[in-house]
Amino acid sequence: MDSIKDPIDQNIERPRGYSFFAKLLHWGFVAIFAYGIYKQVDNVSLLADSSLLRFEIIFASGFLALLIVRFLYMRFTQKSSLPEGTGRFQKLAAKVVHYGLYISFASIAASGLIIGLLYQFGIKEGLLIDGVIGLHELSVTLSYYLIATHIIAAIYHRFLRDGVWNSMVPIWQERKET
Ligand code: HEM
Ligand code: HEM
Repeated sequence: MDSIKDPIDQNIERPRGYSFFAKLLHWGFVAIFAYGIYKQVDNVSLLADSSLLRFEIIFASGFLALLIVRFLYMRFTQKSSLPEGTGRFQKLAAKVVHYGLYISFASIAASGLIIGLLYQFGIKEGLLIDGVIGLHELSVTLSYYLIATHIIAAIYHRFLRDGVWNSMVPIWQERKET
């Protein structure tokens, strides 16, 4: 495996590419998030079903715990695959989108948990719960925009053939020019 200078901290040399565990976390997380979207609560009154309320709270807690594990693992053991010569603007854009994804996911789960707790404590309507639901929906919308930007950027790198796509995506791999 080639080695590269970390694009953000030039003093660190790292192997190029993500570990198997990093890829497992990336794609496993995509599947869990898709499941969360598929199972979304359509209306706050549905939380009157106590088994749905319990399921949502357990799901959101697991989601948040996994997100934290993933963030710490990625932050301390892996580095972006952007090539060394990447411009400052592009590095910053990648950082903003990656951190933005983590922040919007954490906000979806945390606001969901607060909705669940408020509901359990009998606060089922009013300004407080409506405000938290508003934050929950805003975080979901933000995550959709960030995911769309992230996927477009990944496809752009695939066409650049700079190794970023290959570092994370197991299909439609770039081949070395012969
Ligand atoms: C078809 C869908 C997707 C493709 C092709 C894709 C591709 C990639 C690639 C190529 C990288 C490496 C970027 C680099 O090294 O700088 C990456 C990293 C990353 N991806 Fe995706 N991705 C996809 C979906 C998603 C989704 C849905 C999420 C969020 C749930 C996500 C979150 C992240 C994050 C946060 C990183 C940065 C590494 C980290 O800290 O975990 N990706 N992705
Ligand atoms: C990580 C976990 C969660 C995900 C991925 C998720 C996802 C979603 C999505 C996609 C929506 C629709 C947003 C929109 O239409 O703009 C939504 C709405 C909502 N979610 Fe969640 N959610 C999660 C956790 C929770 C939890 C734990 C609760 C409460 C126990 C909850 C309660 C609600 C409510 C009340 C709404 C609004 C429904 C309405 O429009 O009246 N969610 N959620």
